[in-house]
Amino acid sequence: MKKYIAMILAVLMVCGLFAGCGASGDGLTVKKGKLTVATSPDFAPFEFYSLDDAGKPTLAGFDIALAQYIADYMGLELEIIPMDFDGTLSELTSKKVDLSMAGYSPDPARENSMDFSDVYYTSGQSFLCTKENASKFPTIADANKPEYQLGVQIGSIQYGLAQENTPEADIVQLSKVTDIIAEVLSGKLDGAFVETAVAETYMKSYPELTIALDVSYEKDGYVIGVSKGNDALLTSVNEAIAKAKEDGSLAKFIEEANVQASSNTFEGLLDAQGGVPTETSN
Ligand code: ARG
Repeated sequence: MKKYIAMILAVLMVCGLFAGCGASGDGLTVKKGKLTVATSPDFAPFEFYSLDDAGKPTLAGFDIALAQYIADYMGLELEIIPMDFDGTLSELTSKKVDLSMAGYSPDPARENSMDFSDVYYTSGQSFLCTKENASKFPTIADANKPEYQLGVQIGSIQYGLAQENTPEADIVQLSKVTDIIAEVLSGKLDGAFVETAVAETYMKSYPELTIALDVSYEKDGYVIGVSKGNDALLTSVNEAIAKAKEDGSLAKFIEEANVQASSNTFEGLLDAQGGVPTETSN
């Protein structure tokens, strides 16, 4: 018996010394000394690119500011990896990143593949369309017709909302919210399901858009996706969120993000040279 215990202890020690049993050398994050975070910057004011006078993009938004705050709190260097939204889900599920900060709703369907932090923001869900089309949709049931093409982001809870509210409609899944907005503006889509805070931000840039309807969703808070089973990381993330709420940082991040989002922005992914793509493409 003693021999077994000694063996188990030895194995545990080796794990701790070399591999952290799957994670980086310190066992806490995927890369030692770094906090690796996936995001999807098509989502102002959560995450987007802010452009300076020369058009040079810098990642911005309150998710990005909060990510830096958490990294600082933990004494880690922040590495943010921008990607499409469905990529943030799969990278976190396969534990290639420590966190996903992309305006996640605490969707119960995700609970098997990630842990959720405490809620750090709340908004609601909206049905967005052009002002011109708004009168067609006095209720959500009016959008539930096969002749309507309605946009949702791939992998998002909005897909579920569309299935629930408008199952008869043609539900079109696109990888970027930016593309959904472009297609609503061009008339290719009749409407779309989008987060209220995000819809309101796009409406500032495109006054021809409007929120035709509020859509109900029982989980209206936003959370950080945390690598499943990494309790030490989850604890630190929640501590940092609590501190950011308490010391006023979070409120400041949200205010700053809203100001920046109403100035010069780009939403989507940069080209290989790290610049804003000249032609919008998927
Ligand atoms: N809140 C929704 C969800 O969790 C949509 C999030 C989309 N985020 C983004 N950065 N595009 O499914």
